[in-house]
Amino acid sequence: MYIRRYVLAVMPLIVSSSSNHICRVCEPFCTCDYSFGRGSEQRVLKMSRLPKTWLITGSSSGFGLLLVRSILAQGDNVVATSRNPSRTPDLVKEVESTSKGKWLTLDVTSGATTISTVIEEASKIFGTIDVLINNAGYSIFGAAEEIAEDRAKAQFEVNFWGLIRVSQAVLPIMRAQRSGTIVNMSSVAGLTASPSCAIYASSKFAVEAWSESLCQEVAPFSIRVLIVEPGIFRTNFLGSGAVQTQPVSEAYRSNVVDIMLQRFEDMNGRQQGDPVKAAERIVENVQRGLTKEELGKVENLRLPLGHDCYDRVAEKMAKLKQNYESSKSEDVDVAIKE
Ligand SMILES: NC(=O)c1ccc[n+]([C@@H]2O[C@H](COP(=O)([O-])OP(=O)(O)OC[C@H]3O[C@@H](n4cnc5c(N)ncnc54)[C@H](OP(=O)(O)O)[C@@H]3O)[C@@H](O)[C@H]2O)c1
Repeated sequence: MYIRRYVLAVMPLIVSSSSNHICRVCEPFCTCDYSFGRGSEQRVLKMSRLPKTWLITGSSSGFGLLLVRSILAQGDNVVATSRNPSRTPDLVKEVESTSKGKWLTLDVTSGATTISTVIEEASKIFGTIDVLINNAGYSIFGAAEEIAEDRAKAQFEVNFWGLIRVSQAVLPIMRAQRSGTIVNMSSVAGLTASPSCAIYASSKFAVEAWSESLCQEVAPFSIRVLIVEPGIFRTNFLGSGAVQTQPVSEAYRSNVVDIMLQRFEDMNGRQQGDPVKAAERIVENVQRGLTKEELGKVENLRLPLGHDCYDRVAEKMAKLKQNYESSKSEDVDVAIKE
C-alpha cells in the first residue's frame, strides 16, 4: 500500500534492501520495506519521492525563514507560520508566489483550540503534514535569582508549552498516516546551562526531556522525533526583540552573569554559525531519516550544529561522567536493607 506514494521510473537510486530497512530515499515518510526490503542484494531502483509537506513555526526570521526557503528549493510543500504575517508582507509574497508555499497565522502561545484549528487548516492545504518543525523561540537573560516569575512563565509559554501544544495538534495526523517527523529546536543550552541563561536553558532542557520521552512513545507509529541543538548562529536571536535582558542588580555587577550579558551583546551580528548551512543540515537530516531499527532510540535523537555546541556538550559529558564515577561507590548505595 505504500508503493503508491512513489513515482517509479524517474530517478536512478541505489537502495540497500536488507529486511526491516526503511527506504533510504523516501524515508522518513514511509516504511516501504514492502517494496524495497526483500532479498539481500543491492538493487537499482528508478524512483523519486512525492513532495512532502512541512509546517514550520516562527517562520518570520532566522532559522524558520531559512528552513522555509531551503525546503521550497528542494521542491517540497511548506506551510510557513508566524504570529503576525502582516508584519512581513514581502516574505509572505515570496513564499506564496510558488504553488508549494502557503503562509498562515500561528502564535504558539494561543490556546489549544486555536492551534488545533490552524493545524487542521494547514493539513488541508496540501493534504497532510509530514514534518513539523517547532522552531519559534526566544531567550531571556539575567541572574537566576532575579528573573521575574511572569517573564520566566512567558518564556516557557513559547519555548516549551507552545511546542507541546503544536505537537499535540499534529501528532494525531501523523499517527493516522503512520509516518511523520517532529523536529524540535532546542539549543546547546538544552544540555548545558550557562550563567545568565537559567530560564532559557530550563525551557530547552524541558524540550529535551519531553522529546526524549516522545521519541520512544511514537516510534511504534513510525514517527520520528529529532532534537536540533544549535550552538550560536547569526540570526536575530541576539538582536533586539528576540532576546529580553533583565538588567542585574548591584549584587551581580562584575559577577559572571554580568560578564555573560556583555559577551552576548558584543557577539550580536558576529556569531560564527551560518544559519543557511544549519537549515540545509536540518533538511538533509530529516530527508535522510532513520531505519526502523534506529527509530525511537535515544542515541539517534539529537543533531548538534556547530563546533561550539559539540565542544561544550563534550565537556559537559566528561564532567558528568567524572561526577558520576566519583560518587559511584558509597553515595549510590542507599537501598533499604531488607
Ligand atoms: N540563533 C541561535 O544562536 C540559536 C541557538 C540555539 C537555538 N536557537 C533556537 O532557534 C529557534 C529560532 O531562533 P532564531 O535563532 O531563528 O531567532 P529569530 O531570528 O529571533 O527567530 C525567532 C522566531 O520565533 C518566533 N516567535 C517568537 N515568539 C513566538 C510566538 N509566540 N509564536 C510564534 N512565533 C514566535 C519569532 O517570530 P516574530 O517575528 O513574530 O517575533 C521568530 O520568527 C529558537 O527556538 C531558538 O531558541 C537559536
